[in-house]
Amino acid sequence: MGINLQDNSIQLFYVNESQLLAVERLQTLIADNKLPIILDLELIEGKIKQRLAELNSEGDKAALLLDNKNKLSLLSGALSVAPEWDKLQRRVVSAGRKSELILKAAKISADSQVLDATAGFGHDSLILASTGAEVTMLEQQPLMALLLLSEQQRMSAQPNWQKLMARLTIINTDALSYFTQLQKGATGQAANVNVVYLDPMFPEDSYQDSKTGKGAKVGKQMQALHHLACPPTLDEEIGLLNKAQAVVADNKEGHGRVIIKRPQQAPYLARQSPDESWHNAAVRFDGYFV
Ligand SMILES: C[S@@+](CC[C@H](N)C(=O)[O-])C[C@H]1O[C@@H](n2cnc3c(N)ncnc32)[C@H](O)[C@@H]1O
Repeated sequence: MGINLQDNSIQLFYVNESQLLAVERLQTLIADNKLPIILDLELIEGKIKQRLAELNSEGDKAALLLDNKNKLSLLSGALSVAPEWDKLQRRVVSAGRKSELILKAAKISADSQVLDATAGFGHDSLILASTGAEVTMLEQQPLMALLLLSEQQRMSAQPNWQKLMARLTIINTDALSYFTQLQKGATGQAANVNVVYLDPMFPEDSYQDSKTGKGAKVGKQMQALHHLACPPTLDEEIGLLNKAQAVVADNKEGHGRVIIKRPQQAPYLARQSPDESWHNAAVRFDGYFV
């Protein structure tokens, strides 16, 4: 398991020469956000399938693909994954009706400040931000952060997504060190967080029933993430939960909540019982009130 990036360099396939401007925009995102990524460019005009099959046979090797619509995907083994925020349009539009369990748990309003400390593909962040709240998205993996930044830029070109996109701030950082900096006032951002949301990695088979082996299989986006990131240790879980609670306690109102997403049957994060839980057949949101 694990993708090896030698010298931080990764191949970026693009499919025609007219994309050089889009490639340049990616380079600018990398530089502006100080991402430790060096792009190794390769034009694969007309031989996409063949090149991707070669890549697949090279085992753990990852690459990036900028398709003819300038959508950036991560290629990992046989998988090709992208945030694809446009597919969430219906959920984002109807989220205001509070049909989303995550919103019942997070209980945020348009003037809330939310910290999604494990952003991943950013889907939960979008639902959280659909309420009008500002969402700061932390993602420790530089490649995932680049996918998010590129998706934010791509979606910002669509007028009906612009307001939502403007409420998202994406930062490539480890949540634990960010929480510490936030408490020291060292992030340059006013620390007034009402909700910290955490959806840490969990073992790949967590959605399956431990006795029967039956149940939901993880989707291809989560499978690809399992090549990049590991579940936290118990000590890390304890650190995440305690520091997240301390960040919320520090806000102007002096109260708020930490929400943790878990597979329905999974044990509590850091083995600490929540104040309240909301669940459906697949997932559970545990709320810790501060
Ligand atoms: C399960 S995924 C989150 C999926 C996300 N909720 C979504 O809707 O797409 C977990 C993500 O958190 C990131 N992550 C895990 N631990 C982290 C940490 N300590 N700091 C920042 N990001 C972290 C992983 O790299 C991974 O991308």
